[in-house]
Amino acid sequence: MLCVTFTILKEEKFDMQILDIKNLRVDFKKGKQFLNIVSGIDLKIEPAQIVGIAGESGSGKTVSMLSLANLLPSFDCRISYDSYKVNRIKVDDKQIPFFRGRLISYIFQDPVPSLDPMFMIKSQLKEVLSLSSDHSVKNEVMEKLLKSVGLEDAERVLNSYPHQLSGGMAQRVAIAIALASKSKILVADEPTTALDANLKKGILKLLKDLKDENNLSIFFVSHDLEQMFYIADRIYIFYAGMVVEAADASHIKKAPLHPYTAALLKCVPQRGKSSLIQIKGRSPNFTSLPSGCPFHPRCEFMDDICQRMRPPLIEVKKGHFVRCFKVKK
Ligand SMILES: Nc1ncnc2c1ncn2[C@@H]1O[C@H](COP(=O)(O)OP(=O)(O)O)[C@@H](O)[C@H]1O
Ligand code: SF4
Ligand SMILES: [Mg+2]
Repeated sequence: MLCVTFTILKEEKFDMQILDIKNLRVDFKKGKQFLNIVSGIDLKIEPAQIVGIAGESGSGKTVSMLSLANLLPSFDCRISYDSYKVNRIKVDDKQIPFFRGRLISYIFQDPVPSLDPMFMIKSQLKEVLSLSSDHSVKNEVMEKLLKSVGLEDAERVLNSYPHQLSGGMAQRVAIAIALASKSKILVADEPTTALDANLKKGILKLLKDLKDENNLSIFFVSHDLEQMFYIADRIYIFYAGMVVEAADASHIKKAPLHPYTAALLKCVPQRGKSSLIQIKGRSPNFTSLPSGCPFHPRCEFMDDICQRMRPPLIEVKKGHFVRCFKVKK
């Protein structure tokens, strides 16, 4: 199944949950060369925090998230960073598999393929729960867990196969399995895209509640800024495998500083406006990224320097980072 968890080796290390990665890079092998996809991002998450990862399709959101737990195919991919800290402890390459245990679990866009079609939910949940329990897993424990993710008819769900569940129920089961692993961090990668509007709302509310009740840290990946503003405490805006803006969600919503973020905000559907606005041009292809600022072919503020040099990511206000020559401290 696609819901990936890791077996913990030394649980006592996780007294204080936090992940802090500096200068994360991911390159994919293309023929004899490597193509840079994620280009030096810093990512941090704190306990009971929801960090939103936003940006158009193809901007490197999923690749970045999968690289956190080294889930990309190792034969054609190279992951590197300057520092990887768990609980403020710096971890070196050899220790990462050791520290990774039970730290991160994932839920994806389409929940059904992430569950094993051959087994009832009961067996799948039991398997994960038994990793963290010395005793045999009781039905009551599983039912309680399913009820905690809003599945009131828990007994029926336990005795169902994945194809017998609706998309919304299957996503709740996937979340329950992630919780069963007792991960400190949940990566929810476009978890509502395959669901209808009502089910979407339910899953977003559930994630928010779980953050508070379980002290869970969540990376919430979406191209939908409306959802981001509802759920996220902090938002990272991705463009061409880079972070172009990172700030508290309220700052991004009220006063976006990067031209790309401002353009994304204009695309959010508004009540009373019938036409949908789109950002002009296309998101760039990684095999032929524009010179300088990768957003320059689409940017109305572009000038000479933007075509020649890549802007650095600068902290322009406390906690508000922007990658644009036109935005000053
Ligand atoms: N396994 C892979 N091998 C080569 N390139 C990949 C692989 N996975 C993703 N990519 C490329 O990485 C880029 C970013 O993809 P992705 O992270 O999935 O974007 P997003 O999640 O923002 O839509 C895309 O151009 C995609 O083609
Ligand atoms: S650096 Fe230049 S091209 Fe890039 S976003 Fe800023 S103004 Fe636009
Ligand atoms: Mg994706």
